Amino acid sequence: AEDGYDLWLRYRPLESVAKARYEPQIAGIVAPGDSPTIRAAVDELQRGYRGMFGGDLTQQGAELRDGAVLVVRAGSPLVQGLDLPFAKLGGEGYLLRSATVQGKRVTIIAGNRDIGALYGVFRFLKLLQAGQPIDKLDIADAPKLQVRVLNHWDNLDRHVERGYAGQSIWDWQKLPRFKDPRYTDYARANASIGINGTVLTNVNANADILRPDYLQKVKALADAFRPYGIKVYLTARFSAPIELGGLATADPLDPAVRAWWKAKIDEIYAVIPDFGGLLVKANSEGQPGPADYHRTHAEGANMLADALAPHRGILMWRAFVYAAENAEDRHKQAYTEFQPLDGRFRDNVLVQVKNGAIDFQPREPFHPLFGAMPRTPLMMEFQITKEYLGFATHLAYLGTMWEEVLEADTFRPARGTTVAKVIETPVDAGAATGMAGVANIGSDRNWSGSQFDQANWYAFGRFAWDPDAKAEAIARDWARMTWGGDPVVTDTVVRMMMGSREAVVDYMTPLGLTHQMATGHHYGPGPWVADLKRPEWNPVYYAQARPDGIGFDRTARGSDALSQYAPQVARNWGSLATVPDELLLWFHHLPWDHRMKSGRTLWDELVVRYDAGVDQVRRMQADWAGLRGKVDETRWAEVRDFLAIQLDEAIWWRDASVAYFQSIAKRPLPEGHKPPA
Ligand code: GCU
Repeated sequence: AEDGYDLWLRYRPLESVAKARYEPQIAGIVAPGDSPTIRAAVDELQRGYRGMFGGDLTQQGAELRDGAVLVVRAGSPLVQGLDLPFAKLGGEGYLLRSATVQGKRVTIIAGNRDIGALYGVFRFLKLLQAGQPIDKLDIADAPKLQVRVLNHWDNLDRHVERGYAGQSIWDWQKLPRFKDPRYTDYARANASIGINGTVLTNVNANADILRPDYLQKVKALADAFRPYGIKVYLTARFSAPIELGGLATADPLDPAVRAWWKAKIDEIYAVIPDFGGLLVKANSEGQPGPADYHRTHAEGANMLADALAPHRGILMWRAFVYAAENAEDRHKQAYTEFQPLDGRFRDNVLVQVKNGAIDFQPREPFHPLFGAMPRTPLMMEFQITKEYLGFATHLAYLGTMWEEVLEADTFRPARGTTVAKVIETPVDAGAATGMAGVANIGSDRNWSGSQFDQANWYAFGRFAWDPDAKAEAIARDWARMTWGGDPVVTDTVVRMMMGSREAVVDYMTPLGLTHQMATGHHYGPGPWVADLKRPEWNPVYYAQARPDGIGFDRTARGSDALSQYAPQVARNWGSLATVPDELLLWFHHLPWDHRMKSGRTLWDELVVRYDAGVDQVRRMQADWAGLRGKVDETRWAEVRDFLAIQLDEAIWWRDASVAYFQSIAKRPLPEGHKPPA
């Protein structure tokens, strides 16, 4: 059925020309190793072949024939004597090479470890899906980050916080006995894009996941994922020693607390020897943490890191903190708390920093911690699930947003130190690197709640593998694999994707406005909301719209959040001459009549942007209408209907926001703006 279940691993029949061209080059598999990972690689190759060529690709013996596809590890006698770049592949990289072995023309797919060979198989299948030549292959690739993890915000009761794709796919009640085959498909999809870890539980979840009965369920999942190179991680509630251990305190310097965690972590590793590690949200939004005992984040994190270290486990410690009792600009708080701790975290700690300082907004400048903690391993946290970008119904490709953040120049210590560089560069030999993505996966048939949201899962994996990747190339790969090889379809889908996130920015929060979403669920406009108990939860706090103007002053006259960036960045964004329009109201409070680069007043420009967002959705609709009949009707109709929802809601966003801001600005609507019908 064309329901999207196959994701980008569709393997639909190739055109006869392509088939005829490829067939002599793919005549059999030679995979001498016998491990679960090699078996998974062979299975995938056979599955892909069956789908695209319509027959069986059989395994052959060591007597090679022309067209053999070799799936091997470094050291295999089959590739001895060939000059292959194993040295630069690391533990997870792979190579694809067309070669002559025993006088036969073959394709070599290899890695230093089995997982490399599996990744190589997925790359090989991608080439076939995209109709690329495979007769002169010379590809070598390796991930730039070590820890490439999804964060599932699963609450142990099938509910996913900020999940818009149905229930959680973790069916705890039926585990460990029943392993839903979907777990294997989940692992295949992740391995196909190089994801190598998954945090199963929510950062806000209770401590139950650490109970012995739950650890058996976790073990069952770990067993299902292991052949695909995916490790499991869990969230650790900081107060677990009290809740599960019956202790009176969770003070990280208390010997009984330390002993409890050490025993708990040893217990986990006894059940799951290759367990990945723990993720902690501490002293944030009401969660317990070391500050409850007047200890620092470093003291809290290091206690857990020390217990994990003998097992080579990783401790991910989130920097998403802002405290109720703190009146400082929320933008500044994580930096204020964490930056002074630079150098105080163990090497197996990854401080997990959201891409921006507020909270996964449609656009944020990069987080000032990137580049500011050179002696601390920092990992990126992106949100794949679209909490603030229209849930699953609005089409918004996040690749462009992530690229924008990753290629931003921190100027720390010097020009050219992009955010990507910061996270790719280990702070010491052996220190961890990584990227986390808050998953958009649920039990909907299409996994992500919409066809196009699959692209965000896909793109996350690609950026985690290579933070210097390009959003457009990723979109193109995804479009080809997901919607078929017709170049008209690919071009149209890519065009829609590339403009989609800016459309959302424009109709929700243009010109650097932020957090204008309605309370709690964050769906739909709420710029007028002013009555929530914490000031920094109110949209009016972020927009600062008053009769004198609009925008949040983060210059030295205001909160001075700019001072947390390198001087070059602070100068650039601090000056009205150089700050890009996209971040204008993020950093500046300006009069409604402020003259914009376009020549319009700020008020007029604001309205123009809201209109532009709506128009862009109309363009996506027109583009999509043109693809009718070129893609399957089921998925086509679903996307059409979602775009209709998006248009309604883009108009809702625009009209509500413009009406509200107009009630403060008291200026007429600019010419050309179409008032609400
Ligand atoms: C956002 C989100 C919460 C989540 C929090 C976090 O604020 O709305 O649901 O718990 O981020 O990342 O911890």
